[in-house]
Amino acid sequence: MRRQRVGVLISGRGSNMEALIRAAAEKNYPAEVATVISDRPDAAGLTTAQAQGVEAMCIDPKACAGREAFEASLQEQLQSKGVELIACAGFMRIFSDGFAMRWHGRMVNIHPSLLPSYRGLDTHARALADGVKLHGCTVHFVSGAVDAGPIIAQSALPVLPEDTADELARRVLRLEHELYPMVLSWLASGAVSLKDGRVAYRFAVKDQTRLLSPMSSAE
Ligand code: GRF
Repeated sequence: MRRQRVGVLISGRGSNMEALIRAAAEKNYPAEVATVISDRPDAAGLTTAQAQGVEAMCIDPKACAGREAFEASLQEQLQSKGVELIACAGFMRIFSDGFAMRWHGRMVNIHPSLLPSYRGLDTHARALADGVKLHGCTVHFVSGAVDAGPIIAQSALPVLPEDTADELARRVLRLEHELYPMVLSWLASGAVSLKDGRVAYRFAVKDQTRLLSPMSSAE
């Protein structure tokens, strides 16, 4: 089996990146993490990746003359590593339409809410403030806009009366660590793809809805 080469983009802690690296260490996983790239030199995830034996580097936007130059360096690095798919994992930059188009159907992101609700930051506090009863995470193809693009899969959990934003974030993060490796394996194996702006699945929809995790898997 030829494994698809994935570039993981991070800006911070890198726990989702670590979940992808761990999944890719499995013999039959259809992808390998070819490189980890951070836009912040102090991202903790850089050290974590290196400790797992994955090459990791920073491209500092401050050292680049604007977004175009940053994206050109990023593209060069991805190309030099033979990257075929991009997984954004807490990457805090907005892509130009040109970059998003170049990676159309080959770049995914994980977001800690049930999109299209709560794009942007502080999703857990905002969900609590609104009193929603279900919250969770989403993996989607990346389009130019922030936290937008065709949704591939979501994982949900109940919001409990005693939840704080931190507690909710902790429980959602556990779902993220399950969901992201699974969806990346679908993408790498060709089980999902983007066709005419819609997500096409090569498996039964009931298998996809199974991802709505019962409470037990979040605890
Ligand atoms: C995650 O909650 C992810 O969904 C969001 O940013 C956070 C990154 O956390 N996009 P980590 O760096 O993966 O630990």
